[in-house]
Amino acid sequence: MPEKLLLIPGPTNLSKKVRDAMAGPQMPHVGPEFYESFKEIVSLARYVFRNEKGFQFVFSGSGTIGMETAVTNLVSHGDKTLTLRTGYFGKRMLMLNQIHGARAESIDYRDGVHADPDDLRKRLRKEKYRAVFVTHVDTAASVCNPIKELVDECAKAGVYSVVDSVCGVGGVELDFDRLGADIAFTASQKAIGGAPGAVMVATSMRALEYMEKRKEPIESYYMNLLRWKPVMEDPRMYLATPSIQVLLALKAALEEVKEEGIEKRWLRHRDLGETVRANVASLGLDFVAEAGYRANTVTAFWVKEGLAGGIQKQLSKDHDIVVSRGIYEDRDRMIRIGHFGILTVPALEKALRSMDDVIVRLGAAKSRLQVANPK
Ligand SMILES: Cc1ncc(COP(=O)(O)O)c(C=O)c1O
Repeated sequence: MPEKLLLIPGPTNLSKKVRDAMAGPQMPHVGPEFYESFKEIVSLARYVFRNEKGFQFVFSGSGTIGMETAVTNLVSHGDKTLTLRTGYFGKRMLMLNQIHGARAESIDYRDGVHADPDDLRKRLRKEKYRAVFVTHVDTAASVCNPIKELVDECAKAGVYSVVDSVCGVGGVELDFDRLGADIAFTASQKAIGGAPGAVMVATSMRALEYMEKRKEPIESYYMNLLRWKPVMEDPRMYLATPSIQVLLALKAALEEVKEEGIEKRWLRHRDLGETVRANVASLGLDFVAEAGYRANTVTAFWVKEGLAGGIQKQLSKDHDIVVSRGIYEDRDRMIRIGHFGILTVPALEKALRSMDDVIVRLGAAKSRLQVANPK
């Protein structure tokens, strides 16, 4: 299979070091080599989350496992919860709350519109919730929510806050200790640059105490954080067989994050975001996310109805570049570009030139202007 440049919002391109990490011989999951590696993974996960004060979990599963873990551990049947629904993944979070028996309410925003801390403040003054759920970067609409302000409102009201940062951590600033959220989670395959299949969950000590004291049982075996806690403390303990290769790949990716430095990585992703935004603007195309709330890890924009499929196909066929389309009803009129992980600005600029050619050739853009250099 020819190697393509993935500009989809996950999974992302893998570095050689990450690929190589998956190619070694099998090892026992409770043996000394994996034990040492796992200890290191948990410590590196703390580094990327900037989580020194809370508890850090890492286990096998996709980002959705992280979402469901947050719900099952904090919410009991009949608890009232609030989800700030800013797109496809907010909707999934709401569904998970419903499935697990919460009296699940939501504040709904049009795709591309950010969750407004004022709306949250007003709602929290009127109603008492067990927990508030917010998506950091909604990968479908490419909107980046103001998580610090939102989490602050939850803290002021004394309500638990959960941040889905599957499309954030490693690319968009998230400092768990300073943020003050009760749970934040991400997955391995996006801005961190690992292979799909591992989830990282940071919890506040306050949230952990709540889980320990809650009267209703946590209604999951695999997603019960209290069962995973001893494994994080001593990875020789067995709960479920870990996806060894995925976790070794995650270790390699996390090491690369640390080598780069998390702050430098946020800045590189800011540059990637600015490069894409300048390019989309230069083509005269409209963004899905509103100005001021556009993510640095993914960008969604509108093209003429019916042309998204053609753009995707031509880019792949002629240039070995893969982009995504919108989800469901937006499939034919939205393009989404993932720009995270190991992607560099020069590689992105080169890919964008190819994308511009295809977009202009297919008549999906309003005009062809010079690609602006944002720096
Ligand atoms: C913001 C967000 N949350 C949750 C998920 C679900 O993650 P996964 O597909 O790994 O289950 C995704 C996946 O793209 C996502 O972007």
